[in-house]
Amino acid sequence: MDLRSDYLGLALRTPLVASSSPLTGSLDGLRRLEDAGAAAVVLPSLFEEEITETALAFHGALEAGVGTFAEALDYLPAFGTPAVGPDAYLELVAAARRALAIPVIASLNGTTPGGWTAYARAIEQAGAHALELNLYQVAADPDEAAAEVEARDLELVVVVRGAVRIPLAVKLGPFYSAFAHFARRVVAAGADGLVLFNRFYQPDLDLEALEVAPHLVLSGPDELRLPLRWIGLLRRRVDAWLAATSGVHGAGDVLKALLAGADAAMMASALLRHGPTHIRGVEAELARWLEEREYESVEQMKGSLSQDAVPNPDAFERANYLRTLRSWSSASRI
Ligand SMILES: Cc1cc2nc3c(=O)[nH]c(=O)nc-3n(C[C@H](O)[C@H](O)[C@H](O)COP(=O)(O)O)c2cc1C
Repeated sequence: MDLRSDYLGLALRTPLVASSSPLTGSLDGLRRLEDAGAAAVVLPSLFEEEITETALAFHGALEAGVGTFAEALDYLPAFGTPAVGPDAYLELVAAARRALAIPVIASLNGTTPGGWTAYARAIEQAGAHALELNLYQVAADPDEAAAEVEARDLELVVVVRGAVRIPLAVKLGPFYSAFAHFARRVVAAGADGLVLFNRFYQPDLDLEALEVAPHLVLSGPDELRLPLRWIGLLRRRVDAWLAATSGVHGAGDVLKALLAGADAAMMASALLRHGPTHIRGVEAELARWLEEREYESVEQMKGSLSQDAVPNPDAFERANYLRTLRSWSSASRI
């Protein structure tokens, strides 16, 4: 069975990609993922905050020195570059490239225009095959209109696109008011691929400490429905590679993502829960399903249930709402 899939112009052995997570943050984890059959890996993000904090600490140390020593600027080389944050990240990219045969996709994560975007080029120089730009943000400012939020995001895409020659994927959340239109603009701004969707971690409230507490819960397969809809809707509407993230757990989820039109199915929670070897089982089941249905390749079935390919395209839109509500009453009569 030919499981190959093209994603971002990278020839993947299968569509199964390990998404950004702590598992992809160490060489050991990366090797285990490759051994288990991951077709590509996305490294954890280098965050705008990490870059800015490191720059501030670096600048602060220099400023402190300037006040104390006349030769402060002379000792810059001895001070060296900061050992944490961006430098460690670039080392990880370079080490991953040396250690792995599969494509290494790095990830940059930020929301505001600024010097941090220059790291896109450093990441390319460190050897990444592709870059994923994660625009995770919460549009919480009541003075900022949707058009302004979108314009800021698009500006980031343009700047990062201009900084690198490697393929660029943009990982988005679903909370844009006219998502199909915005997706098209992201592609026009220079994205080669869209990664749908960022999973938003809602804050929890700690009833003992009476404070807001971060609380990470891994995803469940039901969460695939949202990316599934939008990948199905966008498959023929945007000229970009599409990756599904959020809720890809088993082979059934991978198949759904491919049928809707994804080029890659990314996994994080399932791999954290079951370990890297989970990929091997998913691949075997994927191949079995395709063989049983006499498909010859993954490429052949990609997008065959996208919106433009199904007899009832309105099922991807509002009609689905009515049908879903009505399906409850018929189901409950059983
Ligand atoms: C512990 C943890 C760390 C993550 N770190 C990152 C990250 O650094 N950058 C990023 O883009 N996504 C990150 N993600 C999001 C995943 O890559 C993925 O998009 C999300 O978890 C949804 O996929 P899943 O349902 O397979 O978990 C992280 C997820 C988890 C669970």
